[in-house]
Amino acid sequence: MIELQQLNKSFGPIKAVDDLTLKVEKGTTVGFLGPNGAGKTTTIKILTNLIGATSGRALLNEVDVVQDPKMALAHVGAVVETPEFYPFLTPVETLSYLGRIRGMSPQDISNRTNEVLQQVKMEQWRSTRIGKFSKGMKQRLAIGQALLHEPEILILDEPTSGLDPRGMVEVREIINHLKKEHYTIFMSSHLLGEVEETCDKAALIDHGKLLVYDDIDSLGKLTKVMKLEVVGSSAIADSVIGRISALPSVVRVARANQQTLVVDYEGSVESRGDLLKGVQAIGVNVVSFSPVGLPLEALYMDLVKESR
Ligand SMILES: Nc1ncnc2c1ncn2[C@@H]1O[C@H](COP(=O)(O)OP(=O)(O)O)[C@@H](O)[C@H]1O
Ligand SMILES: [Mg+2]
Repeated sequence: MIELQQLNKSFGPIKAVDDLTLKVEKGTTVGFLGPNGAGKTTTIKILTNLIGATSGRALLNEVDVVQDPKMALAHVGAVVETPEFYPFLTPVETLSYLGRIRGMSPQDISNRTNEVLQQVKMEQWRSTRIGKFSKGMKQRLAIGQALLHEPEILILDEPTSGLDPRGMVEVREIINHLKKEHYTIFMSSHLLGEVEETCDKAALIDHGKLLVYDDIDSLGKLTKVMKLEVVGSSAIADSVIGRISALPSVVRVARANQQTLVVDYEGSVESRGDLLKGVQAIGVNVVSFSPVGLPLEALYMDLVKESR
């Protein structure tokens, strides 16, 4: 449904997008994940034909966005950067005005307005002037306007960025809901947790380059280094830290507190028992031994660090 083929975009000496190739299958929700400046917005702008690529192609439903933008974007709804609405208009008036611009019939506009306001949980505010809205409400309306013409593909650039925690939760709920309605969703985010929570797959980029692209579940398993917390029944001596560091596949040992150490371990999950035995053999009376943090978090940090 979405296809990027060896996409490149330079701004003078800056390579914002670097040989990016990516395919998004119908009905999947893909998180386009990367730190600030990674090239997410630039890619999405190329994909929605707001800017041109230096080289390469972007296709929507197998149609090149530059060769036939109208056809390519016909079944696409996008929210790129928080759109500004006229503050003196209400959501109903705004959707009606946008529908007319998009050539929809008055009947269509009226039907879709009701559906869309329901989808983004804004029925209650349908006749309130937008000037009174919070940023989160404006963002929900922005998603609503993107859905007005019944697109199959939804492209969202950092949909929760700049929202307060409650606004974030509400927008994520809407996305999760849309996901169940079988839209194909491509959303960028710099928040790993958000992508893990909302998406089926993650495409991780940094410096415009695609680092990995896989199912969220598979990505967690790619992690090389796992953090394991070891808690002893009493204070653990400094000398023990050195001895644990020397055990197989141990990368680093850090002290969290008197009784607790955090071991960075790059062995397999199956060999974790050997680590535990090793620690016990050193003389620590282990009362707790457990992984800390999300596996994907370690992968994200590793990959982003490596690409810098
Ligand atoms: N119009 C522009 N002119 C010059 N540099 C730009 C422009 N737009 C983006 N960049 C640069 O391209 C890189 C990628 O930016 P962007 O796509 O906005 O990243 P992201 O959305 O992942 O934060 C950054 O280094 C940014 O400074
Ligand atoms: Mg951006």
